[in-house]
Amino acid sequence: MGQKLDYMAKKLAIGYIKKFDQIKEQGKGFYFYSQTKGSGKTSLMASMGNALMKTHFASVRVLTTNNLLHAIKNTFETEGYYKLMEQIKRVDILMLDDFGGERPTEWVNEVFYTILNDRMTGNKITFFTSNTEIEALQYGESIVNRVMKMAMPIKFPEESIREGIAKKTKVSWLC
Ligand SMILES: Nc1ncnc2c1ncn2[C@@H]1O[C@H](COP(=O)(O)OP(=O)(O)OP(=O)(O)O)[C@@H](O)[C@H]1O
Ligand SMILES: [Mg+2]
Repeated sequence: MGQKLDYMAKKLAIGYIKKFDQIKEQGKGFYFYSQTKGSGKTSLMASMGNALMKTHFASVRVLTTNNLLHAIKNTFETEGYYKLMEQIKRVDILMLDDFGGERPTEWVNEVFYTILNDRMTGNKITFFTSNTEIEALQYGESIVNRVMKMAMPIKFPEESIREGIAKKTKVSWLC
């Protein structure tokens, strides 16, 4: 993340946290996206989750969408499944990491439709990180429309902090 975005992202995050009581009523989250991997989307989302837990006592759940889909598949229609779906429906802030990375099968569409529809009708906040802009998501229109309604899109720069860190920490004995 360049210094400019670092500043902008921090400002956005702080503003959101400060105005959270108001934003909560609207049920709006963020959709952080960039094609470049390692631009800081997951880090910022997780930091916001921690801050909202501390400052507003919000319940937060961060899940990688791939792991979530596996958990649903593995527990399908067992007690564990209903418990998980209930938690996902009720948690104040759901953070879906790497949204849009999975193959959009009919089943995947059904799962996301159920989750997002439940959260939208319950006016619950959902955050997303993705390598795809909302309009280019490969899911059905009803899902894409719900994401648009539920989250403000923020484009991260096509620049990898991860690579920057890797270069800086390159072990000296290799050079
Ligand atoms: N503001 C920051 N200052 C310094 N380091 C950061 C900052 N944000 C993130 N990082 C570091 O940069 C790396 C990449 O961040 P992160 O995993 O959040 O990227 P990402 O955009 O989610 O990547 P991907 O698209 O692969 O999911 C991590 O090692 C993280 O610790
Ligand atoms: Mg990430």
